[in-house]
Amino acid sequence: MKLWGGRFSKSTDKSVDDFNSSIRFDQRMYRQDITGSIAHAKMLGKQGIIEKSESDLIVKTLGEILKDIEDGKVEFLIDAEDIHMNIETILISRIGDTGKRLHTGRSRNDQVALDIRMYLRDEADEVSQMLSDLKDIVLAVAEENIETIMPGYTHLQKAQPITLAHHFMAYYEMFKRDGERLFDLRKRINVMPLGSGALAGTTYPLDREFVAKELGFDAITLNSLDGVSDRDFVCEFAFVLSMIMMHLSRFSEEIILWSSNEFGFVDLDDAYSTGSSIMPQKKNPDVAELARGKAGRVYGSLMGLLTVMKGLPLAYNKDMQEDKEQIFDALDTVKMCLPVFGGMLSTMKIRKDKMLAGAKGGFTNATDVADYLVKKGLPFRDAHAGVGKMVAYFLDQDKALDELSFEEYKTFSDLFAEDVYEAISLDTCVNLRTVTGGPAFETVKKVIEKYKNM
Ligand code: ARG
Repeated sequence: MKLWGGRFSKSTDKSVDDFNSSIRFDQRMYRQDITGSIAHAKMLGKQGIIEKSESDLIVKTLGEILKDIEDGKVEFLIDAEDIHMNIETILISRIGDTGKRLHTGRSRNDQVALDIRMYLRDEADEVSQMLSDLKDIVLAVAEENIETIMPGYTHLQKAQPITLAHHFMAYYEMFKRDGERLFDLRKRINVMPLGSGALAGTTYPLDREFVAKELGFDAITLNSLDGVSDRDFVCEFAFVLSMIMMHLSRFSEEIILWSSNEFGFVDLDDAYSTGSSIMPQKKNPDVAELARGKAGRVYGSLMGLLTVMKGLPLAYNKDMQEDKEQIFDALDTVKMCLPVFGGMLSTMKIRKDKMLAGAKGGFTNATDVADYLVKKGLPFRDAHAGVGKMVAYFLDQDKALDELSFEEYKTFSDLFAEDVYEAISLDTCVNLRTVTGGPAFETVKKVIEKYKNM
């Protein structure tokens, strides 16, 4: 008979058992479920709600069950529905009536809310660690490339020269914000719902603060309806994961472009690329492509979760069981992407020569030629128009602005003097941009130093 089978006279149809059961995917919360139950049982004993000896036996047996699960000695049952009832069933099979006292003052509704919060709390810490490892890699590559000049783009058209360090540090900023989001989210996860009961709390004199302290929660929920039905933190987690994937996907897109023959900015390591079954010359950026592709999958989880929740009346509804596969899949995906992406970045070869050549073409120093004329007294709009004409004139000749002869310069403006070459060299273009946040070698170096010491 089911743990809840008292009022039933028929057993559940096999198809309903399969349909209803979540053990297939919620068994990964076994440790959280047992740890939560141990804290609950201790509290019941301390409060005199059950005998101290009963509490002790429950705690001890739950510890043994945990060990048996970890040793692979436990088989979960589909018709025990979920991880909560599977463990309770095992407990009762081992210590009989005493085991039946564990669920006093508790409902599966607040139990599952507790478990998922504990599970996601640990996952938030794990993703934070992985993100921080990736940040370290980004920082290390940046540090080695403070003087690696490359073209910066807008509209994917060459715009102005920057450095690879500057470019990488832009991603560092994104991942840093992602880390901050995880940190912030963790505060909202880390609120203890046990004591909410099924929806309306409980008449037993529970010590909720004690349970919260035992389990490392910073606070307890203050509304029992919300305590059992809040899944904001699950949606929020899916959003943070989606944002991480969006950043990885943008980065991936660049790696894919950069590793193409047309760009040739990077050479992916053999260990982080794949070949073609038919074209012998191919080396494909599959890691980056998959990271880009998997962003769609994680966004799907976010949409799935928001949609599950949108029409649910208070309080608990079984629909909410659908939260787990979505968030677990999103977590598994992100945790798979982060380290492999880091490995790809740390092993790829950077073709500084190609980056520099890229920065030389495409008139990336045109703004600086205009600024040069401004410094010599021309209003910026006139300078802009004048340099535009120069660019148009030399467009077909595949010439860079600093390759023009002095005579050629003079035909465009009398304001040009010999110092123009120095003024518009790529080094100058980058290094005059010392504004905070700019690409000048020293400026980026300072930012890198700051983050290294954080
Ligand atoms: N497996 C359920 C879930 O994941 C646990 C809570 C079920 N509660 C209930 N009263 N049916 O949401």
